[in-house]
Amino acid sequence: MRRILVTSALPYANGPIHIGHMVEHVQTDIWVRFQRLRGHEVWSVCADDTHGTPIMLRAEAEGITPEQLIERMHAEHLRDFRDFGISYDNYHSTHSPENRELSQDLYRRLDQAGLISRRVIDQFYDPVREMFLPDRYIRGSCPRCGTEDQYGDSCENCGATYSPTELGNPVSVLSGATPVRRESEHHFFRLGEAESFLREWTTGKGRLQPEAANKLDEWFDAGLRDWDISRDAPYFGFEIPDAPGKFLYVWLDAPVGYMASFRNLCEREKGLDFDSWWAPGSDAELYHFIGKDILYFHALFWPATLHFGGYRTPTGVNVHGFLTVDGQKMSKSRGTFITAREYLNHLDPQYLRYYFAAKLNEHIEDIDLNLDDFVMRVNSNIVGKYVNIASRSAGFINKQFDGRLADELDAEGRQLLDRGQGLAEEIAEGYETRRFGETMRRIMDLADEANEYINRNKPWELAKQPGAELRLQQVCSTNLEMFRLLTLYLKPVIPGIVEAAEQFLNIPALNWADASRAMGAHTIAGYRHLAQRVETDKVTAMVEASRPKQTTDRTAKDADPRHIGIEQFTDVDLRIARIVVAEPVDGADKLLRLQLDVGELGERQVFAGIKQAYPAEALADRLVVLVANLAPRKMRFGVSEGMVLAAGPGGAEIFLLAPDSGAQPGMRVK
Ligand code: 2FM
Ligand code: ZN
Repeated sequence: MRRILVTSALPYANGPIHIGHMVEHVQTDIWVRFQRLRGHEVWSVCADDTHGTPIMLRAEAEGITPEQLIERMHAEHLRDFRDFGISYDNYHSTHSPENRELSQDLYRRLDQAGLISRRVIDQFYDPVREMFLPDRYIRGSCPRCGTEDQYGDSCENCGATYSPTELGNPVSVLSGATPVRRESEHHFFRLGEAESFLREWTTGKGRLQPEAANKLDEWFDAGLRDWDISRDAPYFGFEIPDAPGKFLYVWLDAPVGYMASFRNLCEREKGLDFDSWWAPGSDAELYHFIGKDILYFHALFWPATLHFGGYRTPTGVNVHGFLTVDGQKMSKSRGTFITAREYLNHLDPQYLRYYFAAKLNEHIEDIDLNLDDFVMRVNSNIVGKYVNIASRSAGFINKQFDGRLADELDAEGRQLLDRGQGLAEEIAEGYETRRFGETMRRIMDLADEANEYINRNKPWELAKQPGAELRLQQVCSTNLEMFRLLTLYLKPVIPGIVEAAEQFLNIPALNWADASRAMGAHTIAGYRHLAQRVETDKVTAMVEASRPKQTTDRTAKDADPRHIGIEQFTDVDLRIARIVVAEPVDGADKLLRLQLDVGELGERQVFAGIKQAYPAEALADRLVVLVANLAPRKMRFGVSEGMVLAAGPGGAEIFLLAPDSGAQPGMRVK
């Protein structure tokens, strides 16, 4: 018996699970379920990836703590995976005591091994938000082609990559302020030291797909650079031991989340011993299923971290490509950014599991969900070929033979069943090597053979022939034996339908070893409905429901993507407000606290980054323009309930917008 531990990449806790994630979780689950059917000891674990700046900022924007945000997301993600039949033994969180302990300990071990270096670097800092800015939160003009409003690390126009400090006129996406350069000491993982270990590790048998191994060769050739694993406060994550104000970068503790989830499982499962799975030299197998975008983390940083941290390394990293829908990147406006929940609101998860299985292979290729093909394939294969075998036979067996199968099959039936049983190892090999698409074709070919057998033997005619009872019972019994075998072969993929099929056949849960057996003289239960055809209008409704709710009057908007409709403008609730109080904020050298009278909306508190431009005492009684429906944002000093409009580059050059006299607090700006 093999001992196998399997993981899927940990989804970020700042967004919903969507059908793109499901490709991976379905792929993993099929493989895991298959291994369980084979009788191996298999554990599959996952968790939410909870740390980092985006999660911190999102929680702040929602006016809740990061802990509250990740707890809510965890509950949602758990429900989505459960409802898709993804059978994790544990779905944990990287914000857990186990992960804190393991991550900090791993850091110490790496440090002791001489793999951590420290040096001061110079980075952009947002003086208003008082934090260092990750590249994606800085925009400015491209240093190469000059295109404005580009991200801090690359240009969408010319494709140049650069450091944010090279941008022209940089602005902080968070506050609109001009970022300043500031120095700070960072901790680095000296990946170069791991090169010879990694070169050796990547050549291990079955370790990486050939495409992944080639990618790694390119990275080796380019040279392995130090990896910055620290972030400065404020940051939602784990503190670096003995380094006040420094946190572990989310990508350091994220994969440790695999171990932490397993450790947490060990606390629940008697006899499951963490060390025997994670100590160097462990005979257990460890596989990570991931998308192609995070190969660098899983095939370089992660094995190096484990090895030099004193743990075993992964047996294999299985990489898949991205999901496209109807040949294009998932898109909100096209309605193809489909969340797991929206899918479940309209369609049976078993269908998508089957469809993905039919498309997946052992390569790192993108896979396409073609919605017409989805409807056609599910209807023709699952309903038309597989379920049909049962529904064409069960009625006769139930009505005419009280549910009893024939004691023996006839020669033709025996032969067909033998052929089907003979495929068990080939199909198993297909699952083992993740050639799922090919395996589905193999299984559907067998279903075709069973249907041809039915068409040749015509039970509906036998039922009308006096004296043909035994033949009828035998033919229908062959069909149901074939149906049982196909049920077993499809069990990793459509466990929900299979469970209903096992009940209908009145048999215990199938295992792979049951492939060589048959039901023989056996009484089935009454036929119950196993699967419905997919209706195209349900797919259409799902796509419609996935489109952003458009209040925009489309007729008013022309084709220019830069234009908005008037409704999009009126979505912003702009109001006249009168400054009642303006005062400095302790500990913030850029901020003033404004207490605003907004007429019918009452009073609001806003923190504005205008201190260097306006003395507080000059502001009382002034009228300003307020964005009144901006989500409240929790700041260190209190909640900011809106935004006051101003122009200018920042610092001392900020100019508040002022209404003409006569405007009253609370009036709408339109
Ligand atoms: O890319 C992602 O979605 C990451 N949250 C994956 C983390 S996988 C593991 F390393 F935790
Ligand atoms: Zn450019």
